[in-house]
Amino acid sequence: MVPEPLSLTAHVVADPGTDLAEAFASLWVTVTRAGGAVGFPADAPEADIRALAARMIDDVRAGTLRMVVAGEPAQPLGVVFLRPGAGPVVAHRAEMIRLMVRPDAQGSGLGTMLIDAAIRLAGDLGLDQLLASARGGTGLPGFYVARGWTEVGCFPAALRVGDELRDEHWLQFRIR
Ligand SMILES: CC(C)(COP(=O)(O)OP(=O)(O)OC[C@H]1O[C@@H](n2cnc3c(N)ncnc32)[C@H](O)[C@@H]1OP(=O)(O)O)[C@@H](O)C(=O)NCCC(=O)NCCS
Repeated sequence: MVPEPLSLTAHVVADPGTDLAEAFASLWVTVTRAGGAVGFPADAPEADIRALAARMIDDVRAGTLRMVVAGEPAQPLGVVFLRPGAGPVVAHRAEMIRLMVRPDAQGSGLGTMLIDAAIRLAGDLGLDQLLASARGGTGLPGFYVARGWTEVGCFPAALRVGDELRDEHWLQFRIR
């Protein structure tokens, strides 16, 4: 049973355990199969999704990637990640990536809560701005714009989703 989403909080997890690593991989597979726009076409091999999930968890443990989780760590309802810029020219910003909410928990404010938590985390890290990318042909760029982000660019045909080429939209959130 899905807990009442709005009573949940999002929290930063710096050292994800094996339970969360497994649950995150399963969440990503579920979201992908439901047609979510998070790095894979809907029919991508499960092993490929799990392998990339494992690499991201390694990066979190290494401290190069920050993880924000909504719900119980062993049973997350949603996640989002921040990848702070590496090197002095981009050290004032981070990319916000892999925003996803379990399909049966979508539409209850969790996605917005995760974005807000990522923005707070970025502020705590002393960052000035966040960048996010969104798949063209979806309503996702508008989803970000409705939450105060600004569309700052579009790479035509930059994403290959199965047999289709899609534009990649870039969005920016200025913290200060
Ligand atoms: C995008 C996503 C994270 C939003 O999470 P959520 O918990 O459903 O979001 P919220 O409940 O905070 O907000 C719901 C709003 O987002 C809108 N929304 C959600 N997904 C959308 C989409 N693909 N296109 C356009 N609008 C979308 C809903 O219509 C709703 O709009 P409203 O506030 O005007 O009613 C979630 O739908 C998801 O996980 N999708 C699959 C993965 C994905 O595509 N991630 C995007 C990576 S860029």
